[in-house]
Amino acid sequence: MQYAQLGKSGLLVSRICFGCWQLSPRFWGEVPIAPWRKALDKAVELGVNFVDTAGAYGEGYAEEMLGNYFQDSGNRDHFILATKFYWTFKKPKRHPDTSYAFIIQECEDALRRLKTDRIDLFQVHAWDPLTRPDEVAAALGRLKQEGKVRFFGASNLNADQVALYQRYIDVASLQPLYNLIDREVEARELPYCLREQIGVIPYSPLHRGLLTGKYERDHVFEDDRKNLPLYQGEAFQRMLAGLDALRPIAEMHGLTVAQFSIRWLLTHPAVTSAIVGIKTPEHIASIAPAAAGVLPAEDWHEAAHIIAEAKREALAGK
Ligand SMILES: NC(=O)c1ccc[n+]([C@@H]2O[C@H](COP(=O)([O-])OP(=O)(O)OC[C@H]3O[C@@H](n4cnc5c(N)ncnc54)[C@H](OP(=O)(O)O)[C@@H]3O)[C@@H](O)[C@H]2O)c1
Repeated sequence: MQYAQLGKSGLLVSRICFGCWQLSPRFWGEVPIAPWRKALDKAVELGVNFVDTAGAYGEGYAEEMLGNYFQDSGNRDHFILATKFYWTFKKPKRHPDTSYAFIIQECEDALRRLKTDRIDLFQVHAWDPLTRPDEVAAALGRLKQEGKVRFFGASNLNADQVALYQRYIDVASLQPLYNLIDREVEARELPYCLREQIGVIPYSPLHRGLLTGKYERDHVFEDDRKNLPLYQGEAFQRMLAGLDALRPIAEMHGLTVAQFSIRWLLTHPAVTSAIVGIKTPEHIASIAPAAAGVLPAEDWHEAAHIIAEAKREALAGK
């Protein structure tokens, strides 16, 4: 496994990160726990030392399952543990909360669910329009002083929002949506993170699975993906044709389309580690080799062009 420095934090993370959102039944249905735990064992065996979860995933369920795994396996210290705060699930309505009191309480709750005494990377899940960044920073400052949190990270923020937090606290990393299909952050956030030496850990690096190129043309998605425009009808067919065009380039490098899609991301100089959503040992075992290298520029650009065209035509209904 390859490793990289996460921004200026000094944390050395594997270039593949184990993503835990799959334990959110609302989005992914009931994912069996036994193979998921075996996938974590496999990650340890392969040298994957970075795991990402959130309080929001299954409203605490994903953190709890990860905590159970840590307790039973004794593998807590193997991992650099990243989680997120943002959503309160208190009745009557689910809403964002990054107030001082909420962050302090949410950290206690996360530590209890994760059965650990520290969170290595505590990330604000998204921008909260109602709380000043200095208030968030004050809560994180206290948690760092108490040894409960090691570093602060951000997710789903634009460059201006990251800069606002940076006035009050070091931002170790940004977790944006970034993959061969969704490339908006290339314009501002990635150059910004390069300039500021902020680590970048893209989520949905396989666009929730589409970029694996593994689905048959008649595949019907039963989970939340059935609601996404590129996962149905003509748009889905057009994307599969684009992925077929990508396949020979991937094969030229001895890679599957899934591995190629991850290597494509890891080739960008701003990107530290790709957070892949894992359900099974096969998922983590077959994606790990993607980290072993980068792509030549001509193939990076050709792949980007093929998928941009496929996306344009898919969304235009062609
Ligand atoms: N910060 C945020 O707002 C945010 C948002 C979304 C996700 N995330 C994080 O990022 C992680 C990954 O994102 P994601 O779950 O959206 O999408 P993803 O990693 O792009 O896709 C995950 C899906 O890809 C397929 N897959 C994964 N590895 C595979 C392999 N080796 N071979 C074949 N198929 C494979 C599986 O599909 P099947 O289920 O069809 O097998 C899996 O469910 C999450 O787990 C979470 O930690 C963060």
